[in-house]
Amino acid sequence: MNAPTTVSANVPLPPGPGFWRSLAGYRRNPATYFTQLTREYGDVLRWCGLMDIYLLNDPEDVRRVMTLAWPQYHKDNIDYRILRLTMGNGLVTNDGPDWVRQRRLMQPMFHNRVVNGFDGAINTCTEALVQRWSARRADDAFALDRDLSRLTFQVVGATLFGADIDAHADEVAAMLEVMNVNPKTLRALLTQWPWIPTRGNREFARHLATLDRIVYGLIERRRASDEARNDLLGLLLAARDADSGEAMAEKQIRDEVVTLMLAGHETSSTALGWIFHLLAQHPVIEQVLVDELVRELDGRPAQAGDLVRLPYLKQVVQESMRLYPPVWGMSRSLAADCEFGGYRLPRGAYVAILPYALHRHPAHWREPERFDPERFSPQRSAKRHAYCYLPFAAGPRTCIGLGMAMLEIQLVLARLVPLFRVRPVPGHPIVPLASVTYRPRFGIRATVTPRTR
Ligand code: HEM
Repeated sequence: MNAPTTVSANVPLPPGPGFWRSLAGYRRNPATYFTQLTREYGDVLRWCGLMDIYLLNDPEDVRRVMTLAWPQYHKDNIDYRILRLTMGNGLVTNDGPDWVRQRRLMQPMFHNRVVNGFDGAINTCTEALVQRWSARRADDAFALDRDLSRLTFQVVGATLFGADIDAHADEVAAMLEVMNVNPKTLRALLTQWPWIPTRGNREFARHLATLDRIVYGLIERRRASDEARNDLLGLLLAARDADSGEAMAEKQIRDEVVTLMLAGHETSSTALGWIFHLLAQHPVIEQVLVDELVRELDGRPAQAGDLVRLPYLKQVVQESMRLYPPVWGMSRSLAADCEFGGYRLPRGAYVAILPYALHRHPAHWREPERFDPERFSPQRSAKRHAYCYLPFAAGPRTCIGLGMAMLEIQLVLARLVPLFRVRPVPGHPIVPLASVTYRPRFGIRATVTPRTR
């Protein structure tokens, strides 16, 4: 039975920790803390800190929420309200019939045929990093996460705007980093009331104005040029509603562009950072990967069509995103009382679905903390519940950039891993931070040496 029904008030609310324990645990690392709570209280639990959070960790319950979606499970909650201040009504924050229309318009832009055509742009961006890394000395420690973030921003810039973004790339990337804060921090919450004169609010308003000026400028220049290009901006401008034949409004194009820049940039760079981190800790697995890449590519960059011959590469990426899902948590709100696992969740409840916890569910993953790419071999994947592995969400709101992200991550690794041995700087702490993405709080300091040496 799927649709929400009237639930008797006698049905109990889910169990969970008390107020003070809730607050203390959340502050350390909400991802690991909530995962711990699922071991104590089970797959439906209630966390009552400054607001109530209902966590669902049974893949069947997760399937119900993710597949039914709007209007029963909607996105009108604090997380998306805060994101909307930057992303406007782009695909991530949009909901209901408006979202259906936009998704239908944009889906063809992310068709495999289009996405695979971006392999050249991805390889060009990666080649610039190869040049920089080749010039590094063996003892030259650097911020790996910054290099990767720059790379994925260049990729998103190139696929969205072609070369038009080059002059603004560093400026936009820096602004997005400041604006992309965890919606549950005080700084982010205050941005809802822009008239409160805090330093954070002033900075946010300044960045938003600059971002708008740059994005609207790029749109205007493209319109004026009359040039039909195959980058995503060109496709957004050319898209027409199948029923009405209408083009997208200027503000909607701006919102979709900013959404794609935000959604498609830090997620991919965090994924890459954790993959390098895991490979450095698992040299045997790293060697199997290097062997596959050398055997199949013989020193050349991979193209989209090569990826079918690189199954281990894909398994490494999948397993890394199991342990470190860049989007560690998602939320929805309930339109009516619902029953899950014998407990009542009240109308309006904030429901959390945490890929981080699902990816470690002991009923679905043996030795969940172990890094083992073989879990994703076709034989072992076949029997797994589809909703216990959700790095890109699932159901109608699956990440529209899934294909693009997987292509980008695999092409970047296929180029860099055979050429360079990336090693962490000893003593630099790797402490995860569960912000909008799950990333290393102090970044990743590393050195690179050519593999041939
Ligand atoms: C490793 C990289 C990525 C990960 C882990 C990831 C993950 C996700 C997840 C979990 C969602 C669902 C969010 C929610 O329902 O609240 C999502 C949605 C979305 N992602 Fe990604 N993403 C990645 C890369 C990208 C890229 C490269 C793009 C585009 C260039 C992109 C564009 C989007 C958009 C537009 C949505 C909203 C889709 C909708 O609701 O219709 N993502 N992503």
